[in-house]
Amino acid sequence: MRFDVLTLFPELFGPHLEQGVTRRAYATSQMQVRLWQLRDFADDAYRRIDDRPFGGGPGMVMMAGPLERGLAAAVAERGGAGAMSAVPVVHFTPAGRRLDQPMVQALAQGPGAILICGRYEGVDQRVIDRHVTLELSLGDYVLSGGELAALVVLDAIARLQPGVLSPDSPQHDSFSDGLLEGPSYTRPEVLADGTSVPEVLLSGHHERISRWRRERSLEWTARRRPDLIVQARAAGRLDARDEAFLEALIL
Ligand code: 6GU
Repeated sequence: MRFDVLTLFPELFGPHLEQGVTRRAYATSQMQVRLWQLRDFADDAYRRIDDRPFGGGPGMVMMAGPLERGLAAAVAERGGAGAMSAVPVVHFTPAGRRLDQPMVQALAQGPGAILICGRYEGVDQRVIDRHVTLELSLGDYVLSGGELAALVVLDAIARLQPGVLSPDSPQHDSFSDGLLEGPSYTRPEVLADGTSVPEVLLSGHHERISRWRRERSLEWTARRRPDLIVQARAAGRLDARDEAFLEALIL
């Protein structure tokens, strides 16, 4: 899978691609990441990529020319327009669709994407209208540019690649079943102040442990993200035992 990132700040990506568990995904080329410096596609001696907005107003707008030449270069390296049919062209913006785990999973199963990192004041809308197939947002706050959002997407996809995490851990993720994951504990069994680990986790009784985990997951979700309980119920992901547990919960 290949990602082409169009950005004014390619240097922001290096450290992420070189550290941590996700490094494996890039090092093995399971995920190829090609960074494109948009200034390289400017057409003047000052390497200008932005200009003032028509109609006035604050801030600057990224010009169509450099973006479209950058896009064309990325498309050409991917094998031309004929090879682009299933490749999303993503623009990061607070006006986009909120990124969630099903979207991450869908992207992780595809051929990669072209990621356009703009500044919030904007990208000339004609570029978006002509080329962008997916607008993504991280949430209801404003970032100064799309680079951090692109890194979030790359990280979330990288950790789903085979061999990056232990084989079954993505199945345990918060959100992979639409519920939050409950608490985790490790050694020592008792902390210096006497606080112990929940006894059931030491019992060796796998069925009781997995039921306890399911209940913590249901409880945390019901308390912290009741909207996710509504969704899980609608999707038929809660059984009668789950419903009985939720019914008895005092929120
Ligand atoms: Cl994807 N981009 C920018 N610039 N700001 C954001 C965002 C994205 N998501 C939330 N705020």
